Amino acid sequence: MNNEKLNEVKEKLERDLQNIENEAVLNELKVKYLGKKGLITELNSEIKNIPNEQKKLFGMAVNELKDLFNKSYEEKLSFFKEEELNKRIQTETIDITLPSKKVKRGSLHPMTLITEEFEDLFVSMGYTVYEGVEIESDENCFQKLNVPKGHPARDAQDSFYLKDEYENFLLRTQTSTAQVHAMEENADKGPLRIVCPGKVYRKDEDATHSHQFMQIEGLVIDKDVSMADLKGTLELFCKKILGEKTKVRFRPSYFPFTEPSVEVDVSCFKCQGKGCNLCKQTGWIEVLGAGMVHPNVLEMCGYDPKKYQGFAFGTGLDRFAMFKYGIPDIRTIYGNDIRFIEQFNRKDDTYEAK
Ligand code: DAH
Repeated sequence: MNNEKLNEVKEKLERDLQNIENEAVLNELKVKYLGKKGLITELNSEIKNIPNEQKKLFGMAVNELKDLFNKSYEEKLSFFKEEELNKRIQTETIDITLPSKKVKRGSLHPMTLITEEFEDLFVSMGYTVYEGVEIESDENCFQKLNVPKGHPARDAQDSFYLKDEYENFLLRTQTSTAQVHAMEENADKGPLRIVCPGKVYRKDEDATHSHQFMQIEGLVIDKDVSMADLKGTLELFCKKILGEKTKVRFRPSYFPFTEPSVEVDVSCFKCQGKGCNLCKQTGWIEVLGAGMVHPNVLEMCGYDPKKYQGFAFGTGLDRFAMFKYGIPDIRTIYGNDIRFIEQFNRKDDTYEAK
């Protein structure tokens, strides 16, 4: 009776193994044969009822069935898995001829570009970049720069004062105020070499002036600094920024915090000095104020003017950006229009004066 049952299960199993269509059917068979009430499991539990002399053979036969099932199960399972993988490979192929998704690249703002260019140049000459403050006391903005209260040089500049108990403070009108901080903070009152780029604020507003604009200030203090060093430095920097063929001209001028003072013109890079609308037919464009640091300023900032001299210069970064990138209206620089900013990337940053 038990052998009959054994043969029956064996036949069923062999038939079933012929007709497995997919993984689901395969798993159903696993339950049918090896589950708790599975056919092979049942045969297994019969073993204990088999007379001893037949037990071994019966047991071996049941094990063979179990092995047959397991072997077939593994084979079929890996067959189905492979089949599924092949199907996925076929349906999920990547079409490399499709156009890629464009990654939108940002571009640096022209003022960032020009500031970095100035900083790189001066750092290469041994200067450090000094960060000033934008809210300044009257004392630092004017008095310590040799512009006492009531001095006419204030008229063109003093603009945005704070209120109430801060009425002695204003938004700085020039980065020259950084000279005062740098000298006062330099504890050993020894040599100094800094540039300070940053925003300044004045009551100006037209196509070439904005109430907020950017300057960069330079200050060098040492024991043997002369006007010749100032000229050499400024000539080099104008050439490096505007092109090697740029000519530089120094005119005597007046600034309260320098003596002597100069204004610096460069040959017009649009017409190469012939005369055009940019240089107002003069062939020259004014770009800088500079001079030897006034002894009063040195003294007020803690330096001994008998031992130390210095030179200083200041220029509008917006002006350089406008020249270099051909920006006709300063207000576009601060207008925050992405279409304007997008036009700038370092590849276009290669203007060379002829
Ligand atoms: N601070 C001046 C201005 O805003 C520019 C300037 C002139 C700076 C002469 C200097 C200097 O350091 O020596 O117009």
